[in-house]
Amino acid sequence: MTAAPQLIPPVVAIDPPLAVEDLHVSYDGVPALHGVSLRVDAGQIVALVGGNGNGKSTTLRAIAGLNKADAGSIRFTGLELGGVPAHERVPLGLSLVPEGRRLFPRLTVRRNLELGAFTRHIGAEVDASVDEMFELFPILKERANQLAGTMSGGEQQMLAIARGLMARPRLLMLDEPSWGIAPKFVTKVLDVIQRINAGGVAILLVEQNLHKALGIAHHGYVIQTGRVVMEGDAHSLLHDEQVRRVYLGL
Ligand SMILES: Nc1ncnc2c1ncn2[C@@H]1O[C@H](COP(=O)(O)OP(=O)(O)OP(=O)(O)O)[C@@H](O)[C@H]1O
Ligand SMILES: [Mg+2]
Repeated sequence: MTAAPQLIPPVVAIDPPLAVEDLHVSYDGVPALHGVSLRVDAGQIVALVGGNGNGKSTTLRAIAGLNKADAGSIRFTGLELGGVPAHERVPLGLSLVPEGRRLFPRLTVRRNLELGAFTRHIGAEVDASVDEMFELFPILKERANQLAGTMSGGEQQMLAIARGLMARPRLLMLDEPSWGIAPKFVTKVLDVIQRINAGGVAILLVEQNLHKALGIAHHGYVIQTGRVVMEGDAHSLLHDEQVRRVYLGL
């Protein structure tokens, strides 16, 4: 493993970066989240694990401001986010790498990266960040002028993560980054998440796969039908029989 990259200037510790309390979200009146509470402390990787349709993406999208909260509180570095539109949450330091990656397939790798810096306006600064991303993800440098949609799933996931970092987040939220990619890339993605965290960025990692997520996390939450049913330090959760058997079908 190479040295941790210097992605961002040192962040003044305001603890905790993220505190979600009693979050309720519904779709057309049908509740999806029934009072989710979780927190991400400075310097942590926190995993939110659970099976299909249990509310993982809804939680991340609500934090990012893409789903409206019916009730509850989302505080980020001490600021209540209720009423703050999604695009204004990005410059505050919240960045979401969405489920399914959502790249611009007909644009080049470089252009996708530049668009990740849409809240920053100084060209030279953006260019410097693109160069940082090329250092962190050498494969993207090789493919800088290739259309994003022509890359493999794993390469596209690397690009999606790099694009998320272009906003210089304090908290990076990743929605199933190992989904649909070859096993060798899964290892690379997990490694890169740890390196990003070592560079000072807190991580909220959503995964269906218990081993992948809790294996690199400090703390974990298990979500089932829109409720957090278990939480604890990642190591204990990973070895908890009830978690393994009941909630993750192992
Ligand atoms: N756009 C939508 N419209 C209506 N219902 C939705 C919508 N998105 C999600 N839901 C419902 O909300 C619940 C939670 O879905 P969510 O996508 O948050 O789960 P998830 O844990 O991310 O699942 P997966 O592992 O499949 O990604 C599910 O019952 C789902 O059917
Ligand atoms: Mg999901």
